Amino acid sequence: MLDELRARYERDAPHAPFITSFTNIVFGDGSPTARLMFIGEAPGEQEDLSGVPFVGRAGQLLERMINAMGLQRKDVYIANVLKVRPPNNATPTIEESKASAPYLYEQIDIVAPEAIVTLGLPASRTILATEESMGRLRGLWSSFRAPSGLEVPVMPTYHPAYLLRAYTTENRAKVWSDLLKVVERLGLPLPKRSAGE
Ligand code: URA
Repeated sequence: MLDELRARYERDAPHAPFITSFTNIVFGDGSPTARLMFIGEAPGEQEDLSGVPFVGRAGQLLERMINAMGLQRKDVYIANVLKVRPPNNATPTIEESKASAPYLYEQIDIVAPEAIVTLGLPASRTILATEESMGRLRGLWSSFRAPSGLEVPVMPTYHPAYLLRAYTTENRAKVWSDLLKVVERLGLPLPKRSAGE
């Protein structure tokens, strides 16, 4: 089903009015039956080259965060709001996000995760249809209603690329406390170490 959605995305090319120069479509990665889904913003350079989301520096930190939760990358599903790299890694515009969002919403419906972690503002705003700041959104459970009516709890947290830029004890503790709420909600065994260690 994800393959069909990907094929439809490729046919429709909702990015075409905005982005014409890219190497690969970066559709998603991980388990199609994952209990947990992470949603980022848009592919960067490494992702564009490989066709796989979150494989660059931010991706390596995301993987450490996933591992710290007691999970492996292959256990979760990872997608982005935009499926192609914006030139110069520009932040997605509202119009770009709106054009690609329906495919992300369908992706969520197909994977039907028990929880979603949105990474950073573009993903959080796309999923929660809000104008709130990251500082206000993070750490609090919200909810996303997928096209089928499926309700999925959403935990917004800081994007790992932001964390890399502002790698303070305080920010790391905030992200870790957000992720621990997800661990608890999914009933996963409580990990002993913290993210980023
Ligand atoms: N940042 C994102 O938001 N997504 C990626 O896939 C890589 C970096």
